[in-house]
Amino acid sequence: MKKISLIGIGAGHPEYLTLQAIEAMRRAQVFFFLDKDGPGKDELIALRRTLIERAVPAGGYRLVAAPSPTRARHPADYHQEVDRWRQERVRTIGDLITRHLAVGETGAFLIWGDPCLYDGTIDALHQLAAEGVVSDFDVFPGISSLQALAARHRLPLNRVAENVTLTTGRRLATVAPEEVTNSVVVLDGLSGFQRFKHTDLEIYWGAYLGTPDEILISGKLSDCADRITQVIERERTRKGWLMDVYLLRKP
Ligand SMILES: C[S@@+](CC[C@H](N)C(=O)[O-])C[C@H]1O[C@@H](n2cnc3c(N)ncnc32)[C@H](O)[C@@H]1O
Repeated sequence: MKKISLIGIGAGHPEYLTLQAIEAMRRAQVFFFLDKDGPGKDELIALRRTLIERAVPAGGYRLVAAPSPTRARHPADYHQEVDRWRQERVRTIGDLITRHLAVGETGAFLIWGDPCLYDGTIDALHQLAAEGVVSDFDVFPGISSLQALAARHRLPLNRVAENVTLTTGRRLATVAPEEVTNSVVVLDGLSGFQRFKHTDLEIYWGAYLGTPDEILISGKLSDCADRITQVIERERTRKGWLMDVYLLRKP
């Protein structure tokens, strides 16, 4: 038996870790780190290490790291490239488990935010379970960036009898302004909100939520869009990387 725990660690604040996540971390013999090379990698690994040290002060675990496969940023065929990258990631994860987890042990992957949102590790584990590489796996939910955004702006994501849409910067690029009621946008590297700045939409924006670098801006998009873009550019220069999420809302 080789078991895996996919543990949501929350989207930035060490105290976002749930009691269930801490208990799951205490049952693991091996922690696997699979991080993309590039700016921000060291900070994200350091946060995970701090969480492990706090949750499992007794030690006795092993840490195993491997570079995450990389994805072409502007491929000719986006879906084909994502499929290729996901399969390479499955093979990397499978290889780590085969080589570094003994029969009878439990391994853990600490997933940023919640494992169920914009993270391919659950799919990878379904495939590895079907192939017999792992015997079983469990998923422990974490506080997602959407929840952190809503909490920090003191905002319910839904209003009475309205839908909430969760989307990405890439998908937002094809949405008409009149289709937006409450749209939460992740993975937007291109300030996609700028396209709506001449509408009456409001924005609730947050970067590095839960961390000491956290920035919050909210208001009418027509007033805030350029200021947010300036802050994004400033922070990318200062830190070398940026994570942001926002809600676009019809007033
Ligand atoms: C690959 S997705 C993973 C989402 C994650 N599983 C979650 O539950 O939030 C990464 C995106 O989540 C958002 N994100 C994650 N953590 C964030 C944070 N602390 N502050 C702002 N945005 C964050 C950003 O939009 C980022 O591009």
